[in-house]
Amino acid sequence: MKDGKFLTLGIETSCDETAASVVADGRFVMSNVISSQIDIHTQYGGVVPEIASRKHLERINDVIAEALSGAGVKAPELDLIGVTYGPGLVGALLIGVAAAKAMAYACDIPLIGVNHMHGHIAANYLEHHDLEPPFMALIVSGGHTEIVNVPGYNKCEKLGGTRDDAAGEAFDKVARVIGLGYPGGPKIDRAARDGDPDAIAFKRVYLEPGSLDFSFSGLKTQALNYLNTEKQAGREINVNDVAASFQEAVTEVIADKAVDAAVRYSQKRIVMAGGVASNSRLRYLMEKKAGERGIDVLKPSPVLCTDNGAMIASAAYYEYGSGRRTELDLDAVPGLEF
Ligand code: KG4
Ligand code: ZN
Repeated sequence: MKDGKFLTLGIETSCDETAASVVADGRFVMSNVISSQIDIHTQYGGVVPEIASRKHLERINDVIAEALSGAGVKAPELDLIGVTYGPGLVGALLIGVAAAKAMAYACDIPLIGVNHMHGHIAANYLEHHDLEPPFMALIVSGGHTEIVNVPGYNKCEKLGGTRDDAAGEAFDKVARVIGLGYPGGPKIDRAARDGDPDAIAFKRVYLEPGSLDFSFSGLKTQALNYLNTEKQAGREINVNDVAASFQEAVTEVIADKAVDAAVRYSQKRIVMAGGVASNSRLRYLMEKKAGERGIDVLKPSPVLCTDNGAMIASAAYYEYGSGRRTELDLDAVPGLEF
């Protein structure tokens, strides 16, 4: 506690960002340190789990120290430590969990293990200080594509998810086949701005009528087939057109289903979360389609959309407030469900 504020340290190491942040009263970001490993993994075309763990280990202490000094806070002044314990890469998660447990034990601070997906939803509390449940949440990241009904703090009801690839994974895979490299999402987003979304008729996969599930794995095959056909016909490939057409097929389906879910559950707000929530076309389509049904769309700024410690601190704050406690035998759970 400092100046009457409840201080939470959030630690996040589930994938390729080593991140720590101090958040006041679950809502106000005092520091947000993110050490990205993207440059290293880019050389391999994707995240290499072994390297990710090693880099987390090298960076974690400095990242936590920077988060504390950036917030002007000393460790004993912290009221709570929140840490991602799943889902994610097991070796990567273990580094954050071990650091959080050591600090909680050494400074006698309560600990909360946070579900990474709950963290992505909580990112919205940091951006929109008046936001309170109920709302519908759309989580679109490298590992997940989920529509979640959020009736209250710490209450989540998953309504639909991907049956194969996550949205971000589809972006990353298609970017690789069209030669844009890793990470694919932001590169496709950028290339698509100069492309025609109607140039190639990528199939929109809606699955059974009424389903809120997704399937994106066919898009990579469609992109590959298109590239092969064009190559064989001796035609030049316009990468911007492929990017724009692919992006349109993914974002249209996501926006349609998220809005459908909100209408069916009478929710007047949809909050977006996860790395793909920073996609400019998805943001545009969500606002347009939701707006037509009188539904508001809220999004965190890009830095809070991708993995960060602040969202974990906020989720931990609300779980702690609801009476939940985590023991010091907390373990990483790579396949943690919602
Ligand atoms: O939430 P996140 O940082 O990490 C997890 O997966 O948990 O999301 C990363 C994913 C990657 O697949 C990346 O390509 C995608 O988010 N992404 C984007 C954009 N920015 C990041 N996808 C589409 N458009 C973007 N602008
Ligand atoms: Zn994430």
